[in-house]
Amino acid sequence: MRILLHRADGKTEPWLKDFSKYLPEAEFEIWHAGEKSQPCDYAVVWSPPEAMLPELAQVKAIFNTGAGVDALLRYGEAIPREIPIIRLGDAGMGLQMAEYVTHAVLRYFRRFDDYERQARAGVWATLPPYNREDFAIGVLGLGALGKRVIEALAPFGFPLRGWSRTDKRMDGVQCYHGDDGLDTFLRGSRVLVCMLPLTPHTNNLIDRTNLGKLPAGAYVINVARGAHIAEPELLAMIKSGHIAAATLDVFRNEPLPAQHPFWQEPRITITPHISALTLRRESVQQIADKIRQFESGQPVADIVDRNLGY
Ligand code: NAP
Ligand code: GLV
Repeated sequence: MRILLHRADGKTEPWLKDFSKYLPEAEFEIWHAGEKSQPCDYAVVWSPPEAMLPELAQVKAIFNTGAGVDALLRYGEAIPREIPIIRLGDAGMGLQMAEYVTHAVLRYFRRFDDYERQARAGVWATLPPYNREDFAIGVLGLGALGKRVIEALAPFGFPLRGWSRTDKRMDGVQCYHGDDGLDTFLRGSRVLVCMLPLTPHTNNLIDRTNLGKLPAGAYVINVARGAHIAEPELLAMIKSGHIAAATLDVFRNEPLPAQHPFWQEPRITITPHISALTLRRESVQQIADKIRQFESGQPVADIVDRNLGY
């Protein structure tokens, strides 16, 4: 079995070492621009360049070393539909998302952001605490990661809400779905957490209109993709005070350009797309298991639905 490996950062050695442990029967070919590779059975990629498409169009399946597949699906039919694209299912990202989002929610609920500002100004003063029952958390996307985030928040006793494409039931969570459910979901969410895949339906979803439906003083946490947010509209809503603050891990252009106005807005907390990093060992182990299942004709989890885009 031959596997074509692409790493945008060029750091292939640690991946090869882990694969030699978990999939010793495979031989690897490293993809290099301008060099013709030998035919391979599978490809393991993250955000491959367009120049790799001829090779990707000839494998039995493509394994994405991340949860989001937008960087692959942007190539449309250049990756033939009959080639399965298989994404990571959690692979250690759920726990990281749970940590990141819980930290951001508690920071806002306990007003640590306001206390940080006060401390910098040398101010010693108690601020009125927020009521837990007024601090409903609404999670957009109830997939592998959204569910894990909700589970992590449950012990704190906030009202919990979730929005998905299809109808769901989750203990202790008010679930909404589809376009019809979005309005009510937004109107009751004091904290909006975005955990959606980026698809034509979710692109720009968090715009002026939908931000305006959140209660005054709402918070936004985006750990999905930058293109879910209409960035200038979010900034305007923060400046107007309707949105109290935002924690953003992802942006339309990454790295976030030095001139981007988000850098100058103290109510926006910026992190460089680190809310859930790909954990190499867990990912290699999961991909190795899935390749064996694929080879033996067993069902494989996390195959992307090309029509839905996730
Ligand atoms: P997932 O398991 O595929 O779950 C996606 C969820 O979104 C599902 O609940 C799905 O609804 C819902 N959804 C999709 N389209 C929708 C629509 N049009 N309307 C309403 N709900 C919709 O995905 P995941 O593994 O949780 O990952 C989610 C995303 O997180 C990834 O796609 C990626 O972009 C992002 N991510 C970011 C980082 C980071 O470091 N910042 C790391 C990992 C992942 P149904 O359940 O009804 O299908
Ligand atoms: C990271 O952003 C991922 O989609 O895994």
